[in-house]
Amino acid sequence: TLLHEELAGDEVLVVSNREPYLHMHTRNGVEVRRPASGLVTAVEPVMRACSGTWIAHGSGSADRDAVDRNDRVPVPPANPSYTLRRVWLTKEEEEGYYYGFANEGLWPLCHIAHVRPVFRSGDWDQYVQVNQRFADAVIKEARTDDPVVLAQDYHFALLPRMVREVLPKATIITFWHIPWPNPESFGICPWREEILEGLLGSTTLGFHTEFHCKNFLETVDRYLEARIEHEVSTISYGGKLTKVEDYPISIAWPEAEDGPGVAESRTSIRQELGLPANQLLGIGVDRLDYTKGIIERFQAIEKMLEQHPEMVGRFSMVQIAAPSRSSLDEYQNFEARVRSLVQRINRRFGNSNYEPILLKVEHHDSDQVNRYYRAADVCLVTSLHDGMNLVAKEFIAARDDEHGVLILSQFTGAARELHEALIVNPYHIEQGAEAIYRALTMPEIEQRERMRSMRSLVKDFNIYRWAGRMLLDASRLRQRERIMTKIH
Ligand code: G6P
Repeated sequence: TLLHEELAGDEVLVVSNREPYLHMHTRNGVEVRRPASGLVTAVEPVMRACSGTWIAHGSGSADRDAVDRNDRVPVPPANPSYTLRRVWLTKEEEEGYYYGFANEGLWPLCHIAHVRPVFRSGDWDQYVQVNQRFADAVIKEARTDDPVVLAQDYHFALLPRMVREVLPKATIITFWHIPWPNPESFGICPWREEILEGLLGSTTLGFHTEFHCKNFLETVDRYLEARIEHEVSTISYGGKLTKVEDYPISIAWPEAEDGPGVAESRTSIRQELGLPANQLLGIGVDRLDYTKGIIERFQAIEKMLEQHPEMVGRFSMVQIAAPSRSSLDEYQNFEARVRSLVQRINRRFGNSNYEPILLKVEHHDSDQVNRYYRAADVCLVTSLHDGMNLVAKEFIAARDDEHGVLILSQFTGAARELHEALIVNPYHIEQGAEAIYRALTMPEIEQRERMRSMRSLVKDFNIYRWAGRMLLDASRLRQRERIMTKIH
């Protein structure tokens, strides 16, 4: 594959907060699960292809006894191809770095969802300390002095620079999986200069879209004394070059024989849910997060049922909502609001044997989710703001029958690529209602045309392209730097 050429025997180390597998003790022994995370969905196939080591936070649900004494475990469990190395955080570190600075500070700072970020000095101290602990882990795991380090997301803004200080020859490729805000918004962060300096330790810094790159360049321009070359999209800061580019993330295209087919899934899912065989079905798959537009989605369904009473009893919406960050107030309040809205809508349009919205607040593994994708007539992705959103791409990949309609928020990175989806503004409830009705009544031939074109795009621009392009750009930049240091 492309990846093997780009890497040519290099050592690869991934750093992310979320671990790709959770090892948990149950009554039946150690059970292994995949967490709900777009980042993990995307990066895991890359790691399988290039071996190496993935360093991640051993989160609460992982069980420390389930791994070896060095905290290294070969994964995937069925067919090991790389090493998972965990860093265990104290309660205090997890509170300050993960719940506090990353998820109460940076997450709302970067997403336009009108939730105010909270910044506390104590959280920042933990964020710095944890970034240092992970940087130390990278340095310790590295067997060579020039490894390829793939640093993931807003949890590790400081790590690139920390690694660079000890391993100046490392190729550090950092990917920011969430949006980057405009300079005014970013300026709210009391530690804005430190975050920017940290990220500029990277060889390559990737975002999903051109908008986010532009916002980043403008933010650096506003707050640091750096030289920006717009034509080649590089930043020179403190004698170090960083390439800033858009690398839209993607998924691994599924193997043909992946799980039960569409016909079988359609029937069995409706049976399991106690629905008639010809029931129209909508599907939503999200973490239970206030950025995902779940409330607006349900309001649009309510409006649709109001305007098209013939759909009452005919249409059901299954919402899979994976619990996430649930010890934070903002997430608890959000869950309560979602639940009470569902109750109200179900009371209004339902009866003893029909509920328009079936809300499932629980973890589902990818095989289960794939069956729902295949069973559905329409998939609703209505994020208020989203870096990419891989649910949109997974739904398309699951539909080898070339049927089903994708409704997609214009505020996702995916909307920049998937033009044949029904693109909506999630804040515009009437428009959402109209799109749902249009999807449910769309002629088969139109569904097929739209699906076919989106499928060929996702198949081509798959996750290996994403990684391959970043590696290629990083190696070109290193060459350029080598030449420049020889000249001077
Ligand atoms: C987003 C973030 C990821 C994160 C995922 C799940 O996709 O960009 O970094 O892993 O959400 O959130 P969690 O807090 O459960 O890891």
